[in-house]
Amino acid sequence: MKAYPESIIKKIEALEKKYAEMGQDMPSYLDGLLYSNILSYWDYIHLDTLLSIQKPKTDCKDEMIFITYHQITELMFRLIIAEAEQLCTDKEQPQEVWIKHLSRINRYFRHLISSFDIMIQGMDKDAFRKFRMALLPASGFQSVQYRKIEIYSSNLRQLLHLKYRNTFQEDASLNTLYQHIYWKSSNRELKSGKKTLTLTMFEEKYDEILLNLAKSLQTQNINSKYLQAHIDIKNNPDIIKELKNLDLNANLFWLLAHYGAADAFLRDKQEIIVATGGTNWQSYLPPQYQKIMYFPSLWTEQESADWGRVK
Ligand code: HEM
Repeated sequence: MKAYPESIIKKIEALEKKYAEMGQDMPSYLDGLLYSNILSYWDYIHLDTLLSIQKPKTDCKDEMIFITYHQITELMFRLIIAEAEQLCTDKEQPQEVWIKHLSRINRYFRHLISSFDIMIQGMDKDAFRKFRMALLPASGFQSVQYRKIEIYSSNLRQLLHLKYRNTFQEDASLNTLYQHIYWKSSNRELKSGKKTLTLTMFEEKYDEILLNLAKSLQTQNINSKYLQAHIDIKNNPDIIKELKNLDLNANLFWLLAHYGAADAFLRDKQEIIVATGGTNWQSYLPPQYQKIMYFPSLWTEQESADWGRVK
């Protein structure tokens, strides 16, 4: 019989121990190894599935760019949420863990901000204006992951429409606050002021999920955790820098890049084209009108008042 090196025998013993602890028979698992296929790259990343989900609604070639870039963005949102989730759900975090998660989130946002040109420069305006009509009333506004990032980052009170932000008592319920979240009052039809179909569809599908998330994160969102954190974390200049960068990336630079796309495609000389959601997008999308800041305690009154104003 072949003599195996000590290192292999040790591995087999370790495996035997592992399976014995689970009440399992190791040789059966070794049989499984004999019959299972080895892993390929394409199987690991599910390449065929990935390439099968870009399904444009029209024959316009540029719609492929539009749908794919939205999918790329949603994948980056997914990574952002995964980091936020770890930061929010772990009990006590040392300073380096805060910095690790926050700097990852900021890197993802920077990637999204710098790649927005794929939309702005990369599609023909005429093609865009044709295929967008086939997408009514869908809109990026309906990105639930975007809304989740907001809820992971800050308290509902911070996400209220400006006109309601300081009007509710301390003991106002989260149900009440949620009804006044900024995007609910902003997404209205130009003529009637009624909620758009884009908004009502979104509310029907996601209100309960988002409200429950806000409830579960009430004292656990990034802003709350920071405000309750140990003084070493609160005063750590690197953590403060990352938090401020997150506000700048999410609530200023991404919004400005996105507004640039709306402006590039939906404005023609003096003519403003109604968006797929049918909204008054020029008075809704610029950050200076919503003034959403996840971490208001880190900004001066003047900085908050000037949020989004181009100097
Ligand atoms: C050519 C590219 C784009 C144009 C012209 C555009 C246009 C618009 C417009 C006009 C709105 C206002 C709501 C509405 O009327 O539907 C909006 C909202 C929104 N879009 Fe886009 N969009 C583009 C790309 C994207 C991408 C790639 C994403 C990524 C998911 C996205 C996510 C959003 C979000 C999250 C909102 C809501 C923003 C808020 O509530 O402050 N958009 N978009």
